[in-house]
Amino acid sequence: MQHTGTTFAGNPELLVELRRQHKLPLRAQLEDGLREAARSGRLSGGARLPATRALAADLGVSRRLVVDAYAQLVAEGYLTARRGAGTYVSDAATAASAPAAAVESGALGVDFFPGFPDLASFPRREWLRAVRDTLATASAASLGYPDARGALELRCVLAEHLRRVRGVVADPQRIVVCSGTAQALVLLARALGQPHLAVEDPGLPPHRAILAAHGARLSALPVDAEGARVAELPRVAAQAGSLDGVLVTPAHQCPTGVALAPARRAALLEWAATGSGFVIEDDYDAEYRYDRAPLGALQGLAPDRIIYLGTVSKTLAPALRLGWLVLPPALVELVVEQRNLADHGAPTLEQLALARLMQSGAYDRHLRQARRRYRARRDALIDAVARYHPGARVTGIAAGLHAIVRLPHSFEVAALMRAAAARSVGVYPLALAYMRPEAHDDGLVLGYANLSESRIELGVRALAEALAELSDGVGANGGRRRRAPAPA
Ligand SMILES: Cc1ncc(COP(=O)(O)O)c(C=O)c1O
Repeated sequence: MQHTGTTFAGNPELLVELRRQHKLPLRAQLEDGLREAARSGRLSGGARLPATRALAADLGVSRRLVVDAYAQLVAEGYLTARRGAGTYVSDAATAASAPAAAVESGALGVDFFPGFPDLASFPRREWLRAVRDTLATASAASLGYPDARGALELRCVLAEHLRRVRGVVADPQRIVVCSGTAQALVLLARALGQPHLAVEDPGLPPHRAILAAHGARLSALPVDAEGARVAELPRVAAQAGSLDGVLVTPAHQCPTGVALAPARRAALLEWAATGSGFVIEDDYDAEYRYDRAPLGALQGLAPDRIIYLGTVSKTLAPALRLGWLVLPPALVELVVEQRNLADHGAPTLEQLALARLMQSGAYDRHLRQARRRYRARRDALIDAVARYHPGARVTGIAAGLHAIVRLPHSFEVAALMRAAAARSVGVYPLALAYMRPEAHDDGLVLGYANLSESRIELGVRALAEALAELSDGVGANGGRRRRAPAPA
């Protein structure tokens, strides 16, 4: 069936849209469409795909293009090819995306969870190659107990990468590889011996919980439109007795999305230089920046006072559980000791595979593609909010993988989440990121990276319907509208 500029495959189970004028090549569009169909459950596990010749004819493209697209998705694990028997959707592809597949079944269909990159675009083929090459070449000695600092190969590659991309002063001897930022915080809380830390408020509740579970005492450092209110550190320290450090997200405050203002960066460096405490710089998603000049890591300006944390959870996938600390020399042995006491170190083969992926250029390539994709998704979110939520403001959009949507009215948090969930939409109130959640209720933290543009629109529209229901006071769960307090 041909439309002007758009082609649909006629098979009712296989709705793939190809746009001739689109900037993405047709093959990439076809691959995206098939991935999306498998992820969303429109194509169920075990479903047989049309023969390449039939699909090519249906779409008006060359058979070679379809053959190549199928081969790519077989390599990524979405499809399986049975010799002489055709190509099928793999069970793993649909099982992994159960939430997306369950719009109709009542589970979350459009989940704006802010913690994910686009999981479907994990570079499976490149990772597979890196793992295969690692296994083929790793020495027998490398299969013994690891160096608790991490594999030297990875630390060398990371040092070069962080210097080049983030301006980090990163000697491999200062790097400790860890199981994501989460474990970095565990190791720090233990190495610093029940430290008293200031943490951004709002911030990331699981990180506060991890620090507290490992003995840290926490005080709130307020955040405004210029990032953490660094000038309040002396007051926070005085109230706490003293501070051992402050945990910040300068490149992209989590969750408000603002960058720490230049004057505050300077003030924070000054605070650290006076020996008041360590700055813990969580650089979790600095790779994604859309309409603003690059901001180097603070660590490069005071490497002896700043503890730098990085992770692959936003660049590759949280499932890898790989991250790193770049430490002031005085802390290296203390942290390594804690890593030894915890589990002797990170799995070596994955570290070597990551080193290969980075060295081969595949990591940088993946990031370049991801940046383009996320920018388009961010724009789709902004457009959809403008269309379906007149009067709402979208902020924190210059970087990262999520945005803050401030609604023109505020809602009771639980009622809002229930109303959205009833329409199969997962939303995350900004209120929950505060240390005293009940005090704030006018914003939503919406992650867009793991949702296609069409699902973003679907979710934002469904959210508008849910809010309209709440506003009318006819929400099944009794939600009610209140006037919004003036946004901060
Ligand atoms: C502020 C912040 N830091 C770090 C991370 C990554 O944590 P991890 O490396 O433990 O997956 C996240 C993930 O959402 C985050 O929001």
